[in-house]
Amino acid sequence: MSINVLLGLQWGDEGKGKVVDYLAPNYNVIARFQGGPNAGHTLEFDDTKHVLHQIPSGVFRSGTKNIIGNGVVLDPIILQREIEALQQKGVDPTENLFISKKAQLILPTHRLLDAAYEQSKGDKKIGSTLKGIGPTYQDKIGRLGLRVGDVLREDFASLYKHRAEAHKKKLDSYQYPCELESLEQEFWEAIDFLRQLNLIDSEIYLHDQLANNIPILAEGAQGSLLDIDFGSYPFVTSSTTTAAGACTGLGIAPRHIGEVFGIFKAYCTRVGAGPFPTELHDALGEELRKKGSEFGATTGRPRRCCWLDLPALNYAVKLNGVNQLFMMKADVLNEMDEISVCTHYQLSDGSKIDYIPHDLRDNVVTPIYKTLPGWDFDVNSVSHFSDLPESFLNYVQFIEEFVKVPINLVSLGPKRLQTLIKAETILANN
Ligand code: GDP
Ligand code: IMO
Ligand code: MG
Repeated sequence: MSINVLLGLQWGDEGKGKVVDYLAPNYNVIARFQGGPNAGHTLEFDDTKHVLHQIPSGVFRSGTKNIIGNGVVLDPIILQREIEALQQKGVDPTENLFISKKAQLILPTHRLLDAAYEQSKGDKKIGSTLKGIGPTYQDKIGRLGLRVGDVLREDFASLYKHRAEAHKKKLDSYQYPCELESLEQEFWEAIDFLRQLNLIDSEIYLHDQLANNIPILAEGAQGSLLDIDFGSYPFVTSSTTTAAGACTGLGIAPRHIGEVFGIFKAYCTRVGAGPFPTELHDALGEELRKKGSEFGATTGRPRRCCWLDLPALNYAVKLNGVNQLFMMKADVLNEMDEISVCTHYQLSDGSKIDYIPHDLRDNVVTPIYKTLPGWDFDVNSVSHFSDLPESFLNYVQFIEEFVKVPINLVSLGPKRLQTLIKAETILANN
C-alpha cells in the first residue's frame, strides 16, 4: 500500500478542498503536509459552504482520520477558532484530528514579523497572507522554532518568552509597533486548548497505517508555482508545495508515494504579487473573476485571472510526477465562443520554450497562444464524462496531448456532486 498525493499545479486555489472532500470516502486518512493557515480550502455540500485553513479537508467524512503533519506550521489561535466554528455547525473534528508534535508553532510575534517584513519591502511586497508563514519557517530552518510537542513541556512558558523577546528586538529594528497583550492572551488560551487535542508522532502513526494497508491521501496546500524552490521566487510561499514535500512533511519514504493527482483550473488565477505571464488586464480577466467568484478564501483579495498556461502546467506535472490530472472550474469557461491557451513562451532571443525559466518577468517571456473553439451547454445536465460536448472534449484532449497525462476528473461547479470522473479506476487506491 502507498500514499496517494493530491496537490495544486498552479498558483494555489485550484479547488483542492473540493476534490479532497470528494475523494475522502475512499481513504481512511487524510494528511496535510505543508503550509499553514495561509491556505483556504473551500468545500460545498448540502447547500453549505465551509472554508478550512488548518484542518484537512477529510473532516466532514465520518470515520476519516485527519492528520496535521510535521511539515505544517500551526497557528493555535486559528486552529481553535476553526474547531469551535465547526462545533457550532454540529461537526466535532477533535476525535478524528491528530496533530504532529513536530509541526512548528506560529507565534503571535511571527505574524507581526510577517507584517513588518512586508511593510519594509515597499513596492516589492510579496502579497503575503500575513499569517506568519515566512517567519515561522525561517525559525524552523534557523533551528530556533517551537514545536507543537513543546506545549507539553513544563518549561514551555519560558521557551516562548525567550523566542518572543528575540522577535520583539527584531520588530524594534523594523520600527514596527509590537502590541502583544491581547494577542498573547488569545495565544495562551489557544495553547491550553491545543494541549487537550490528540498530539502524536504522526510519522509513526502513518507508518503503522501503511503497514496495515490503510488507504492514505496526502493533501497539498498552495500550488507548485508557489514552491520555495521552483515557484516564481521570491514571490512564493516558504514551503515545499510539490510531491517531495509530502515525503518530508509526513515522514514518508519516496517509494511509498503512489498516485500523484495534480489539480488545475481550466484557466489560471493568482493572488498576491509576482510574475503571471498570461495575465489578462482587460474585460475578459474581469469576466473570469466574476464568473469564477475569484476572491481569496483566506484574505478576500480579488484573484488575478488569465488563460491556461500550458508551459507552467507542463513544468508542474514534471516536478511532481503527476500521473492523473483533475481539471477544475471548467464551467467558468462555459458560453465562451473561443478559448485561448498559452502553448509556449518566446524569449527575447526569439527562441520558444514550453517550461518555466528562471526569469519569468514580462520583458523576458512573451506568451504565445493557440485559440480553440469554446463550448456552451447546461453544466448541470451532464452526468457522464462521455456526454460532454465535443469542443469540451477537444479542450481536454489538447491538454492531455500537450502534457502527456490523462485528465481523469473534471469539475463543473463548486458543489461536491458537480464532479465527473472518466472511470472508476481513479478511485482505486493502489
Ligand atoms: P483550494 O485552496 O485549492 O482548496 O481552492 P479555494 O477553495 O481557495 O478556491 C476554489 C474556489 O472555487 C472555491 O470557492 C470553490 O468553492 C470553487 N470551486 C471549486 N471547484 C469548482 C468548479 O468546478 N466550478 C466552480 N465554479 N467553482 C469551483
Ligand atoms: P491554498 O492552499 C493562493 C500566496 C500569497 C502570496 C504568497 C506568499 O488556498 O491554495 P504567504 O502567506 O505564504 O507568505 O504568501 O503565496 N499564497 C496563496 N495563494 N492560495 C494559497 O493557498 C496561498 N497561500 C499563499 O497570496 O502571494
Ligand atoms: Mg485556497
